[in-house]
Amino acid sequence: MFRTSTLLSLFTLSLFHLASTASHAHIGRDIAIPLAKRGSLTKPDGRFDVEKATAARLRLERKHRQNLINAERHLGRDILSTLSSDAFTHTRKSGGIALTDQEEDLLWTGTIAIGTPPQKFKVDFDTGSSDLWIPSSKCLTCSPSHRAYQASRSSTSKLENGTFSIHYADNSTSSGPIYTDTVTVGGVTVTGQFLSAVTKESSQLSQEPTDGVLGLAWPSISELNSNPFFLMAMNQSAVKEGAFAFKLASKGSELFIGGTNKKLYTGPIEYHGIVAQDYWQIGNASVSLNGTAISSKRKTIIDSGTTLMGASPSAVAQFYARINGSRQDPDLGGYYSFPCDPTPAVSLSWGGRDWKIDPVLFNLGDSGVPGECVGALVPTDLGPRVGNDTWLLGDTFMKNVYTVFSVEKQSIGFAKLA
Ligand SMILES: *[C@@H]1O[C@H](CO)[C@@H](O)[C@H](O)[C@H]1NC(C)=O
Ligand SMILES: *[C@@H]1O[C@H](CO)[C@@H](O)[C@H](O)[C@H]1NC(C)=O
Ligand SMILES: *[C@@H]1O[C@H](CO)[C@@H](O)[C@H](O)[C@H]1NC(C)=O
Ligand SMILES: *[C@@H]1O[C@H](CO)[C@@H](O)[C@H](O)[C@H]1NC(C)=O
Ligand SMILES: *[C@@H]1O[C@H](CO)[C@@H](O)[C@H](O)[C@H]1NC(C)=O
Ligand SMILES: *[C@@H]1O[C@H](CO)[C@@H](O)[C@H](O)[C@H]1NC(C)=O
Ligand SMILES: *[C@@H]1O[C@H](CO)[C@@H](O)[C@H](O)[C@H]1NC(C)=O
Repeated sequence: MFRTSTLLSLFTLSLFHLASTASHAHIGRDIAIPLAKRGSLTKPDGRFDVEKATAARLRLERKHRQNLINAERHLGRDILSTLSSDAFTHTRKSGGIALTDQEEDLLWTGTIAIGTPPQKFKVDFDTGSSDLWIPSSKCLTCSPSHRAYQASRSSTSKLENGTFSIHYADNSTSSGPIYTDTVTVGGVTVTGQFLSAVTKESSQLSQEPTDGVLGLAWPSISELNSNPFFLMAMNQSAVKEGAFAFKLASKGSELFIGGTNKKLYTGPIEYHGIVAQDYWQIGNASVSLNGTAISSKRKTIIDSGTTLMGASPSAVAQFYARINGSRQDPDLGGYYSFPCDPTPAVSLSWGGRDWKIDPVLFNLGDSGVPGECVGALVPTDLGPRVGNDTWLLGDTFMKNVYTVFSVEKQSIGFAKLA
């Protein structure tokens, strides 16, 4: 079986050509950051970085468009019913993985171990995709700064049938064989985990500050068509609880595997049931500006592997129409600018608390026009498969809350950060 995927160019705004078996494989991310700090989308002088922001926007579209195609192919079965009954016994481990804030909020990475004896990798933990891949030691085009998987040095490594590959819109490709091996994340060990070791890496990939990606979404969007790490961990009774949780911040960021870290949040966790077993997606969201709901009954995808927030061009136009003086600026790669002072107070609610986005996180920096700043809500064309009522909430949103992804409850939970 040959598995292919499309990773769309970061540098073209043309419509995406989708191969029938294309992949959402997602490479790293960058993060919207406070103006006061130096970060990926804001230059040292406080100016908005158009080139990087255009790339960030395209990554977001690319990944989610492909996710949808995979989901259409695989949806329909209830994955939880295929788990062993032991998956729900709560006797095993849980643990936190410290996430390192790379290059002042460029992205957060954490370390995982693959193989026997363990080989360590720095990965992006991505709730918006479902596969694990890292560079292979046989990769000649991979960056020397990335760590590489040596299958021959792992006694538990097993070569599986098929090829995993990622095609870019610029026609470059990254691809590699598929293995199963033992994988440890935060002290939780899984055997027989499907993964790909990429033997050919495009220059776009080799520039990423992370070795690879560990996907945490549901199997229906897996390009390897296999169970992602966390589901495997549950099925092997390797985790204490069927949930994992994120705190994303400049300091003390953490992915907690097998439950929640009670030190990192206060008060109750507000849970909302997911729409389907594909993305981590919940419905009935309303979006408010200055405390007034301007959009309701939206679907929202909560994606740790996406920098910003995205919605359909029409939904984004409606949003900024409520902010006097805002406009879409072709010079800003299609991003919108708004009068900097005051930065709009944006919040989201799913019928419970109002979860506020810190205005500092909504502001991506000085647009180049005096008094104008760039907003972190970006028009995102997800293609005809997604309704125009779906919003993608990346790190701009997740940095404001403690976010729990519960497989067992089939829910996403939010709590106040401690
Ligand atoms: C869980 O493990 C059982 C064997 O114990 C296997 O039959 C089943 O397919 C697995 N399900 C998932 C989702 O991994
Ligand atoms: C790989 O494919 C071959 C031929 O289709 C089959 O005989 C073999 O069992 C497969 N191996 C695995 C590990 O699936
Ligand atoms: C990629 O290949 C296709 C088909 O060969 C071609 O039409 C297209 O122009 C190429 N794109 C680039 C950016 O070279
Ligand atoms: C979504 O599309 C429908 C039909 O094209 C349109 O009536 C509606 O106004 C759109 N909603 C948004 C938020 O763009
Ligand atoms: C939000 O409220 C502030 C303070 O009252 C006001 O200056 C600003 O214009 C409001 N913005 C929007 C978009 O309603
Ligand atoms: C936007 O401008 C209109 C017309 O000038 C004014 O009536 C309205 O109050 C303004 N809204 C905000 C939020 O400032
Ligand atoms: C949906 O959200 C509204 C408020 O925006 C709330 O009143 C309602 O109870 C919610 N519905 C569900 C099913 O949660």
